[in-house]
Amino acid sequence: MAQPICIAVVGSGYVGLVSAACFAELGHRVICVDNDEAKVRLLKDGGLPIHEEYLPEMLGRLRQESIEFTTDLHEATRQADAVFIAVGTPQSDNGDADLSYVDAVASAIARSIDNYKVIVEKSTVPVYTNEWITRTLERNGASRDTFDVVSNPEFLREGTAVTDFLHPNRIVIGVENERAAHLLRQIYEPLTSGAYYDRPSAVPGSRSADNPPPLLQMSTRAAELTKHATNAFLAMKISFINAVANICDAAGVNVEEVARGVGMDDRIGPRFLRAGIGYGGSCFPKDVAAFRWVAEQLGHHFDLLAEVERINADQKKLFFRKIRSALWTLRGKRLAVLGLAFKGGTDDIRESPAIEIVRMLLKEGCSVTLFDPAAMERTKEVLEPGPRVKYVSDMYEAATDAHAVLVLSDWQEFAAIDLDRLREALRHPIVIDGRNLFDPEVMSGKGFTYFSVGRPSLATGVKAVKL
Ligand code: UDX
Repeated sequence: MAQPICIAVVGSGYVGLVSAACFAELGHRVICVDNDEAKVRLLKDGGLPIHEEYLPEMLGRLRQESIEFTTDLHEATRQADAVFIAVGTPQSDNGDADLSYVDAVASAIARSIDNYKVIVEKSTVPVYTNEWITRTLERNGASRDTFDVVSNPEFLREGTAVTDFLHPNRIVIGVENERAAHLLRQIYEPLTSGAYYDRPSAVPGSRSADNPPPLLQMSTRAAELTKHATNAFLAMKISFINAVANICDAAGVNVEEVARGVGMDDRIGPRFLRAGIGYGGSCFPKDVAAFRWVAEQLGHHFDLLAEVERINADQKKLFFRKIRSALWTLRGKRLAVLGLAFKGGTDDIRESPAIEIVRMLLKEGCSVTLFDPAAMERTKEVLEPGPRVKYVSDMYEAATDAHAVLVLSDWQEFAAIDLDRLREALRHPIVIDGRNLFDPEVMSGKGFTYFSVGRPSLATGVKAVKL
């Protein structure tokens, strides 16, 4: 690598922490800044506030060498060549992104700039935020020739964020001048040149020295829109297949056969066509709403996105109806819940469809026994405790004496469950699977009454409805 760059990353949430660790992994010197003192102390002491594959080993290796943690934004800005803003942009009441953290950080950075810096927006922000950050920096005393503002959206999925960072489909930079573009290209050079993939210690993934990722350079506004449009499109793909799944349910057709047939058209592609209980997480719900709001502000009603949201919300209600029709009455029933995270492989429960379904069940008078490989502590922080809520430490314990098992997150370990042991533990062999983890034929062969999303239930012999 030509020259290591000194990078400050402000905000050590999922995006900030993973980006910081990966920049250090690429050979740069990184200062990770957060105003949460407890979090910084935890990180300094070798702890981790999030559950992410490869991150513990990477930080273990790099903590002594090239990455440091601090609450001192002023000093970090002084030392850095590039300052990445990766703070939260939560959804405000009317759907738009609340940019007050970005504003506060930009104002503070402005007061610390003493020579040329590239300020990079990494948080997901609406189009024109770049201009706002520029204005904020100027208003707070930074002279225009001492900085450039660049947009570098992330496309990191929780659970695979490190691999997504180091083996990206593409790296997008929105930039208006060559000086800033040059610095960003240098930062990503170990990936774009392919050199990183030749290292024996490189995190494995789909990229290689012969097949490095492309870096797309575009205007800042185009980069901002690329991020919103990408997430909105992916959410639309999920809602689309969920709507198709509901039709499949009515027609007695397996949605996976349809998704396979559709996805093999390479204009569509096979990914993000898994039907289920809808998308959740910290990005899709927020970004779809924010993109709709942005469109509205620019004079366009993006009603398609409203429909994407409606289908997503309905998907949980339809699943709930499925539980009711499988169990008849719900009051007093004891249900085993496998999965609380918004998807498998993470401890994140933000906007988790699982949590919403658990709340619906409690409202109907059910008792729930909850298990998730990583998300139970977080669930305890948000779910009212009570005599009808129990947390257990494994899947079989959750199933013991339950009237049915509900599968609500797609953890690998759930798909690998010992079905004989599960059936023996249950009071009734009923599995209601919101993530289509099991094969209906196998389940039926093992003696389960099995319900899933958009796939005929063999045990109950669901018939196609004649149109
Ligand atoms: C997403 C984007 O993928 C990532 O690029 C972005 O930058 C941040 O938001 P993430 O929220 O971590 O990442 O999760 P993702 O794997 O995309 O899944 C989002 C939700 O959609 C989950 O609830 C998941 O279970 C659901 N999903 C995903 C489906 O229901 N079906 C699918 O086929 C894919």
